[in-house]
Amino acid sequence: MLPPLWAVLMIFFLKNFAFAKILTSTLSLSTTYDFVIVGGGTAGNVLANRLTEDPGIRVLVIESGGSNEDVLELQVPFLMPEIPAKYTWNFTTTPQIGLAGRSIGYTRGHVLGGSSSINGMVYTRGSADDYDMIASLTEDDGWSWDRLQSYIRKHERWSSPVNSSLKFFDPDVHGFHGMTAVSLSKTQHSLDDRMLKATEEGTEFSFNADYNSGKPLGFGWAQSTITSRGRRDSSATSYLSPKFRRRANLHVLLNHRVLRLLPAAHEPNPHFNAVEYGEIVNGTIRSRRVVKASKEIILSAGSVGTPHVLLHSGIGDRKALSALGIKTAHHLPSVGQNFTEQPIGGLQWLVNDNNTTDRFTQNATLMAELLDEWKLEGSGPLTSATTTHIGFLRLPNDSAVFDTASDPSAGVNTPHIELSFSNGFIVPVPAGSGLGVLFFVVTPLSRGSISLNTSDPLDQPLIDPALLVDEFDRFTLREAVRLAFRFVGTPAWKDYVLEPFGLPPDLNISNDAQLDAYLRDNAIAGLHSVGSASMSPKGAHWGVTDPDLKVKGVRGVRVVDASVIPHMPSAHTQTPVYIIAERAADLIKESWGIL
Ligand SMILES: Cc1cc2nc3c(=O)[nH]c(=O)nc-3n(C[C@H](O)[C@H](O)[C@H](O)COP(=O)(O)OP(=O)(O)OC[C@H]3O[C@@H](n4cnc5c(N)ncnc54)[C@H](O)[C@@H]3O)c2cc1C
Ligand SMILES: *[C@@H]1O[C@H](CO)[C@@H](O)[C@H](O)[C@H]1NC(C)=O
Ligand SMILES: *[C@@H]1O[C@H](CO)[C@@H](O)[C@H](O)[C@H]1NC(C)=O
Ligand SMILES: *[C@@H]1O[C@H](CO)[C@@H](O)[C@H](O)[C@H]1NC(C)=O
Ligand SMILES: *[C@@H]1O[C@H](CO)[C@@H](O)[C@H](O)[C@H]1NC(C)=O
Ligand SMILES: *[C@@H]1O[C@H](CO)[C@@H](O)[C@H](O)[C@H]1NC(C)=O
Ligand SMILES: *[C@@H]1O[C@H](CO)[C@@H](O)[C@H](O)[C@H]1NC(C)=O
Ligand SMILES: *[C@@H]1O[C@H](CO)[C@@H](O)[C@H](O)[C@H]1NC(C)=O
Ligand SMILES: *[C@@H]1O[C@H](CO)[C@@H](O)[C@H](O)[C@H]1NC(C)=O
Ligand SMILES: *[C@@H]1O[C@H](CO)[C@@H](O)[C@H](O)[C@H]1NC(C)=O
Ligand SMILES: *[C@@H]1O[C@H](CO)[C@@H](O)[C@H](O)[C@H]1NC(C)=O
Repeated sequence: MLPPLWAVLMIFFLKNFAFAKILTSTLSLSTTYDFVIVGGGTAGNVLANRLTEDPGIRVLVIESGGSNEDVLELQVPFLMPEIPAKYTWNFTTTPQIGLAGRSIGYTRGHVLGGSSSINGMVYTRGSADDYDMIASLTEDDGWSWDRLQSYIRKHERWSSPVNSSLKFFDPDVHGFHGMTAVSLSKTQHSLDDRMLKATEEGTEFSFNADYNSGKPLGFGWAQSTITSRGRRDSSATSYLSPKFRRRANLHVLLNHRVLRLLPAAHEPNPHFNAVEYGEIVNGTIRSRRVVKASKEIILSAGSVGTPHVLLHSGIGDRKALSALGIKTAHHLPSVGQNFTEQPIGGLQWLVNDNNTTDRFTQNATLMAELLDEWKLEGSGPLTSATTTHIGFLRLPNDSAVFDTASDPSAGVNTPHIELSFSNGFIVPVPAGSGLGVLFFVVTPLSRGSISLNTSDPLDQPLIDPALLVDEFDRFTLREAVRLAFRFVGTPAWKDYVLEPFGLPPDLNISNDAQLDAYLRDNAIAGLHSVGSASMSPKGAHWGVTDPDLKVKGVRGVRVVDASVIPHMPSAHTQTPVYIIAERAADLIKESWGIL
């Protein structure tokens, strides 16, 4: 029997009008909006949501990538490693001196939600010290840990049962009514008990029931941006969930790339009030268009995209721009400089366990069953991110490296090193059971850059994270490897951890030269970059934005994304970005008297 006509019409209207504000063509766009947001990524969608709370404010988001909807890999947490290249920018770094000349892949999200749609979902804020350092570096106390608490809570919606016999967290430090779901893994892991034991036995390792209290040191359970139904929550699914997408004053244009910002006037300061963009088809620009922002342009294109757009707009170092024939609108030499990234590596061990994730990554039939369970029940191991436990560690005070390097950490409660654990091989193998450990230097001293290679905005910029250039970073990465070995060598792991997997058999990790050589050949980027359009105090002779995120020396442009963060937080960076974007929304509303 056919459904009645009214039902067909209703479904048609729901499908076509409820979500009609997400556009892929420019037909129904206006010529002017109050705000034009460049990049519908992690930060961009926070602003899209907050600024359109006032129905009188009209906002356009321009996102280069496509829709996040109905893509299984962007929904099932455990499928993160399978996300198709279609949803990423296929960037490559410049040859890295610290990595024996290797160029490495440099992934960023290229889809609505940006990197939050493709990331590892780990929810870490960093330490209270980190934010206090940002406040002191920018001379704006509004960026301090205490003053940001209300924004942390506006962002976070804790989504695990408050009490669980299996896993711990501190309800006092979480928000329960915010936008983005945060939860502990819903399933048990063979690592759960051992993680506790390894920190109970009078080892050098301590337990931390909740690393998001501002004091992250110690080992505990990973918190992830995953809903109670076991789905990834990105800025596209939380801040742009259907009820927000329906707002009549919000337009989100997908599949269109911003090429540059255009100035309306040059005196007294250049005033940028228009955005040039186009559709990229087969590597060329089709239909170049311009849209105006009557109040502000907000750049949220990420730590690579934002300096890239600024430089093509003539905002950057005059000498470097004129060498490429780009007219300088405003000489701002810090654009693209101080690009900071965490060097990381991976270790794996063979383990005595038949209930690791390898059980299903090695068995397509079981994987299909678990996918059905995920779809029907929202349960099972595919509801978990690959990272299930995290340890944050400090170098000892008497480390030899402090004879020559000053401590880059923001304070004594701030880690230098992170170890993150997965209950199976990180890179699936055909047989056997594994334990995976990623090791990070979360307080790198090396500074890299984003610069232009050509004057064509479609060419990728030169991405130089300068990994392992500074001796502090090499020292700390070596210590991270040794700490990982010591940790799995504690009695709790006896009879569980069998032997290292995939390491050269003759590698002597006690030997600095040998370990350095191994790390040069194997370390990669943590994909947590910040700093390439850094905040600095008002009036400073360096930096790209003031502490209110307005670009120095020009009118009409703010930057809100990872690139404004002037100091690497000891964390995975999505949460710092969300927190900064929440405050930025209030700063913008305040300047324009929006309630
Ligand atoms: C693979 C991966 C794993 C990660 N894992 C974690 C994790 O587990 N936990 C964590 O906390 N952090 C993680 N991170 C880091 C974190 O996701 C990022 O720091 C954060 O999401 C960055 O937010 P953003 O708003 O600065 O940029 P993005 O979220 O990257 O947004 C930038 C947006 O701008 C768009 N854009 C860029 N240029 C243009 C242009 N010219 N025109 C139009 N649109 C443009 C992009 O397509 C993108 O959508 C990971 C990152 C990656 C890449
Ligand atoms: C990255 O590569 C994939 C696969 O080749 C492609 O589909 C996608 O469009 C590329 N991304 C960008 C931003 O060019
Ligand atoms: C959690 O459980 C403990 C012990 O049963 C109880 O004392 C405590 O009040 C509970 N906490 C919450 C927030 O429910
Ligand atoms: C893009 O290029 C491919 C192969 O060269 C071609 O088949 C396709 O039609 C082109 N698409 C458009 C929209 O021009
Ligand atoms: C990089 O950042 C530091 C502060 O951390 C600042 O002193 C320096 O001037 C910056 N460099 C550039 C080129 O902006
Ligand atoms: C685990 O596998 C071993 C053989 O590899 C088997 O002897 C043992 O019974 C299995 N344990 C469980 C709980 O399935
Ligand atoms: C693979 O999974 C299926 C379904 O759960 C199971 O019946 C089968 O025994 C598994 N195969 C192996 C080799 O473990
Ligand atoms: C195996 O692991 C799953 C989670 O992946 C868990 O639910 C289950 O209880 C475990 N089974 C055993 C026998 O430990
Ligand atoms: C390391 O030094 C800091 C600051 O000087 C001090 O607070 C801390 O107690 C020291 N830690 C140890 C283990 O000595
Ligand atoms: C930079 O441009 C040159 C010349 O166009 C090109 O050969 C090279 O591959 C580009 N480098 C990068 C990293 O894209
Ligand atoms: C490993 O390297 C350390 C430090 O160089 C050295 O003392 C030790 O003898 C080496 N061990 C082996 C087995 O070669």
